[in-house]
Amino acid sequence: MDLKSYLGRHAALVDKALDALLPASDTLPKSLHEAMRYSMFAGGKRIRPILALAACEAVGGNPESALPVACALEMIHTYSLIHDDLPAMDDDDFRRGRPTSHKVFGEATAILAGDALLTQAFVLLSSPSACEHIAPEVSLRILHTIARCSGSMGMVGGQVVDMESEGKQVDFPVLEYIHTRKTGALILASIQCGGLVGGADTEAMKVLTAYAEAAGLAFQIADDILDIVGEQAELGKDVGSDQARGKVTYPALLGMAVARERSQELKERAIDALAPLGGAAEPLKNIARYIVDRSS
Ligand code: IPE
Ligand code: IPE
Ligand code: MG
Ligand code: MG
Ligand code: MG
Repeated sequence: MDLKSYLGRHAALVDKALDALLPASDTLPKSLHEAMRYSMFAGGKRIRPILALAACEAVGGNPESALPVACALEMIHTYSLIHDDLPAMDDDDFRRGRPTSHKVFGEATAILAGDALLTQAFVLLSSPSACEHIAPEVSLRILHTIARCSGSMGMVGGQVVDMESEGKQVDFPVLEYIHTRKTGALILASIQCGGLVGGADTEAMKVLTAYAEAAGLAFQIADDILDIVGEQAELGKDVGSDQARGKVTYPALLGMAVARERSQELKERAIDALAPLGGAAEPLKNIARYIVDRSS
């Protein structure tokens, strides 16, 4: 399969749906809606929504029926980036090839744009149109999964430990805790919820979960590596900021060679986990390769 065209096609589907789901930039309050759209349509890879669509497809579902769930996940992810870049957190100036939200709109609006994107995700997930083709108990499970993975036991919890560990000597379990929560949790939610929309049974959910845990951790290791060896123009965000802030990363704790090795191992583990799903999981397999071998 041609992964580049698969990613492009699915990102375009997600972009079109997101455009229809977010209030127009001239809706009051204009500054807020402009800021929400500014970060949303700045050229993100859309990897979480694409994973949701691919997981739905892998278990025999129609990927289009997972589009609302996929868009909600991208809204939560985009909120997390706006807040991650704030002066009180990573204090970064560039994101998705543009100045960060707080640089353009000010800190208060950036914080509120993040808050509003997070809330909009749950407006969407609980809306009748999003739930139309999904059984009520499955919709509830999706809501619960996304809420749990985004909160204090998931992404937000990981961000807290990431911040608290800056400049400190921490051991490997703390590093793993940070990576599996701050990034792994939302990737896990994306894949599990795509599977739930697609009607995955208990066995298929186990397969998707094993894939997601490996791919999610691999994604953050690749992000750590790219912060050191990546090109700012290609990545669209600041490079070198992890070292500057004394972040706990795989290369910092284990060295670059081991970090690369680990990410390759996780890629293989993710791909192997998909064996029971056969050919329908081909896109997920290729996305695992992309996650680890990407340059942006
Ligand atoms: C960056 O995520 C933040 C992490 C969780 C590592 P992405 O690399 O998916 O960023 P976008 O969405 O493509 O901008
Ligand atoms: C961000 O991790 C994770 C979340 C936004 C939840 P990073 O701080 O490593 O992400 P980048 O490198 O700024 O994109
Ligand atoms: Mg961060
Ligand atoms: Mg950051
Ligand atoms: Mg990073």
